[in-house]
Amino acid sequence: MNSGLRRRKNIARTALPTAVLLLIGSAVTVQSSAPAAAAETTLRAAAAKAGLFFGVAASPNRLYPIVGQEFNQLTPENDMKPDRIATSSGGLQNTSGADTLVNHAQSNNMLVRGHTLVWHSQAGALQGASQATLNNFIGNAINRWGSRIAYWDVVNEALEDNNTGRRRNQWPHTMNRDANGDGDFFDSGDTDVIRDSFIRARQVVQAGGLTTKLCINDYDVDGLTVQGGTPNRKADALYDIVRNYRQYIDCVGFQAHFNDNPNSIITNDLQANIQRFADLGVEVHITELDIDDDLSNNDIGTGQAENYRKVVRACLNVAQCTGITVWGISDSESWRSSERGLLFTGGNGSYQKKAAYHAVLDELNKGRSSTPPPTTPPTTPPVTPSVPPTTPPVDPTTPPPTTPPPTTPPPTAGCSATVSLDSWTGGFVATVRVTAGTASISRWSVQLTLPSGATVTNTWNANRSGTSGTVQFSNVSYNGSVNGGQSTEFGFQGVGTATGLTPVCTAA
Ligand code: G3I
Repeated sequence: MNSGLRRRKNIARTALPTAVLLLIGSAVTVQSSAPAAAAETTLRAAAAKAGLFFGVAASPNRLYPIVGQEFNQLTPENDMKPDRIATSSGGLQNTSGADTLVNHAQSNNMLVRGHTLVWHSQAGALQGASQATLNNFIGNAINRWGSRIAYWDVVNEALEDNNTGRRRNQWPHTMNRDANGDGDFFDSGDTDVIRDSFIRARQVVQAGGLTTKLCINDYDVDGLTVQGGTPNRKADALYDIVRNYRQYIDCVGFQAHFNDNPNSIITNDLQANIQRFADLGVEVHITELDIDDDLSNNDIGTGQAENYRKVVRACLNVAQCTGITVWGISDSESWRSSERGLLFTGGNGSYQKKAAYHAVLDELNKGRSSTPPPTTPPTTPPVTPSVPPTTPPVDPTTPPPTTPPPTTPPPTAGCSATVSLDSWTGGFVATVRVTAGTASISRWSVQLTLPSGATVTNTWNANRSGTSGTVQFSNVSYNGSVNGGQSTEFGFQGVGTATGLTPVCTAA
C-alpha cells in the first residue's frame, strides 16, 4: 500500500463540535482576562487553546505517560480493526486491547477515533462478507463503546491508488453496482457499500442517541492537486462522495502520510482542499500524519520541521479543521521507521523531541491566525516643506475666522485583490487574496476576465456567477466581514490557461 487574522477565538469556538468543546473545557485551563498568554508547552494544550485536538495513534503496549501528557486524542493504531475484533458473522471478539485504549483515553481526557469499520485491508474474518454482515459488525462495534468514541472511521480507503479517482475493485467494493451505467454509484438504483455502510452507522447512532460522529478516511486526498499540478482525482472523488452522502457523513479524514510518491507530496493547495470539504459542512481532520524526512531532499531537521509547520498551518487556517493526529509517537516505533516521519526519536517510553515537534508546538501556539504577528508600525519621516510657510498679514477689520470643527473623512470601504496561479498543461488553480482597505468591509466581490478557452470548474470560499469570460465572485456568509488591512482568500479551479488575470475588487 502506498502506502489572520488571529481567527478570533470566539469564531473558532462557535464552529467547534461538542466533542472538542468538552475536551477544551476539561483538559485546558481556559484563559481569563489575564495579560498576554504564555505559550503552551505541550501539543495538547496549545491545540486546545487554538480550538482543535492534537492526537496520536497508539497501541496498548505503548501507553507511556507521554501519550496523556502531549496528546488529547487517541486512535487505536491496530486494535479496533476488523482483523482484531470482528467475527465472521459481524460479532465482536478480542476487544480487550481496544477497551484498554478507550479507558486510557477517557482517564486522560482524550477523545477517541474509532478506526475502522469497513476496509478492504485487515478485514480478518469479515473478508468477503455481505453488506448484511458488515451492517451487523457496524452496529455491534458502534454500540460497544457508544459516545465514548467521538469519531468513527466508518469507511476507510475506498478509493484506488495512482490518482485514478475510481473506487477500489477489491471487496467490499466489488458489491457495488452501477445500475444505470452512468459511471457512478450515487443513483437510487445503484448499490454502494459506502452509502449503505454510512446509512447503517447513522441508524445506530440515532437509535442510541449517540454523539459519535461518522467519518470517511483516505490517503493521497490531501491537496487539490498532486505533483506537477495534475488535479487530485482521488480527492475529487472523495469530495463527490461526501457531497452526495452529506446527510450521513459528519467528518472527513485526510490521512496525510506525506512522502516522495508524486501523489503523496505536500502541495500548496492543501488548505484550499481542506476548505472545500469544510464548505460542504463537514469537519475535516488530519488523521494519520507522518512526513517523510527527506521529502524536501533534506535529510534531517529543518525541511521536515517546515513541512510539519505547513500542514499544521493549513489546518489552523480553516475553522472546521478540528483535529490533527500523528501516526505514532516516535520514528523507531512507526510503521515507516526508515522515513523518520514523526515528532520524537527514542522509544519504549523514553522520547526526545525533534525539530519537527518544536515547529508544530510553535505553530499551534500561534493559533488560528493567517496573518503574521503585528510589526512595529513604520515611522513617518518628518516632512520638510520646500517653501517656508508664509503668514498672510492680518486685516484688523476682518472678523477672526471661525475654525470649522475638524472632520475626519469617513473611511471608505475599499478592497484590493491579488491572484496567485498554480498552472499545469490544460488546467490551473487560482488563489485570490482579498484585502480590505483601511476600513473594515462587510461584503466584497471580485471580477476577473478569463482568457478565451479558460473555464472555471470549481470554486471554494466564494459564490460565483459565470464560468468563462468575465466571471464575478462574491463572499459567502462566513468571509464577507474583513477588518481593515486584513485579508481573506477564495479559490477556483479551471481548465485552459489563465495567465494575466487582473482582479477588480469592490467592497461595501
Ligand atoms: O502484532 C503482530 C506480531 O505479533 C507479529 O510478530 C508481527 C509479524 O509481522 O506482526 C504484528 O502485527 C503487525 C501490526 O502492524 C502490529 O505491529 C502487522 O504484521 C502489520 O501488518 C501491522 O501493520 C499496520 C498496518 O496498518 C496494516 O495495514 C501498522 O501497524 C499500522 O500503522 C497501519 O496503519 C494504517 C492505517 O490503519 C490506515 N492507513 C494507513 C496506515 C499505515 O499503513
